[in-house]
Amino acid sequence: MLYDFKGKEYIDAHSILWVANIGHGRKEIALSCQEQMEKLAYGSLFGGYFNEPAIKLALKLKEIAPAKLQGVFFTSGGSEAVESAIKIARQYHQRKGQLSRVKIISRRESYHGVTWGALSATGLRIYRTPFEPLVPGFLHISPPYCYRCDFGKTYPECKIECAETLEQLIRYEGPKTIAAFIGEPVMSAAGALVAPLEYWNKIQEICRNYGILLIIDEVINAFGRCGYMFASNHYKIKPDLITLAKALTGGYAPMGAVLINKEIMECFQDWMFVHGLTFGGHPVSAIAALKNIEVLEKEKLISKAKDLGKYLLEGLENLKKHKIIGDIRGIGMHTAIEYVKDKKTKEKIKTNLAAKIEESAWKKGIYLCRASIDKTYIAPPLIITKEQINKIIDVLDESIEKAVKDI
Ligand SMILES: Cc1ncc(COP(=O)(O)O)c(C=O)c1O
Repeated sequence: MLYDFKGKEYIDAHSILWVANIGHGRKEIALSCQEQMEKLAYGSLFGGYFNEPAIKLALKLKEIAPAKLQGVFFTSGGSEAVESAIKIARQYHQRKGQLSRVKIISRRESYHGVTWGALSATGLRIYRTPFEPLVPGFLHISPPYCYRCDFGKTYPECKIECAETLEQLIRYEGPKTIAAFIGEPVMSAAGALVAPLEYWNKIQEICRNYGILLIIDEVINAFGRCGYMFASNHYKIKPDLITLAKALTGGYAPMGAVLINKEIMECFQDWMFVHGLTFGGHPVSAIAALKNIEVLEKEKLISKAKDLGKYLLEGLENLKKHKIIGDIRGIGMHTAIEYVKDKKTKEKIKTNLAAKIEESAWKKGIYLCRASIDKTYIAPPLIITKEQINKIIDVLDESIEKAVKDI
């Protein structure tokens, strides 16, 4: 729950930007952070120095990470994590003598952050256009957007053509020019796009065949959001690098991280990664992250997200009766509604309908937080109850009804 200045209460239906997975106001985290501040408020990881919470967190992440990822590089947030992963990939290939492997491939409609490298990987035009030209060497393929397939096909007859285009692009550009592919298992900002399992098998196979590193961006997907500690587990992806942030600390302090595979780590053993951030590995953030993971595990919130996520999605399905609802999709506690002008033609909504729905939901005590023209994201904290889910759906129902009348 969240409260405004007047004390009115709101259900946080979006974990404030997919961050507060364990919910708000956890005293145990606040107290641990206070204790750490009193002991050592800040410690740098530069020059071979460490601090105890950062080491403990690195070990914990290593323990829970998919594909036995071996190393951790800490940042202050998600964009920096993506930026760092891109630089690790480039320097790794340089170290291996493959100097031409510099290009990064991602997908249209993707969001990977706003710093130059991360923004160049981002595929959403709205974020890119005001700052173009962006960094050269960033390429984009079709997303696995089944509702609006670029090829006008339907799964499984499509034979996941969107994944096949990765191979076409690699061949066209020259395999030895590509450093890495970056993607979220479930595309969040595009509206919880859940690719078929086969999709990630194919992407992974293509990357392996051409010696291209696979960077999996789990900034939103991880820590239970999709019903798994990492969404990579759902797709059985074995990433070379994973980027983390947001729910890593549950929002109790800012932090991001890159998880790194053994081969890349070995490559950097006697070769410095010429990169670093003053607040990377901040001890207070590290304590918050450790406690956050402890809560996720102790309260079994991840399996809860899987079960309650089904309940949420089933409830949302009932909203399809509205003529402006084009699609409803998601996995775990990671869902979205896509609005259309016309259900049959899927004509896009041009006005910011989602903002209107968000505003009327706000008046009725539901906080949706990030309206996106034709999409509403519903991603509550994993501690939510069925009653609260019902309330979110009822309010959405009323708010959508009102928006339809006002069109
Ligand atoms: C998938 C993904 N990657 C990276 C980022 C960037 O994270 P930050 O906003 O912490 O820089 C975001 C932020 O929403 C994200 O959704």
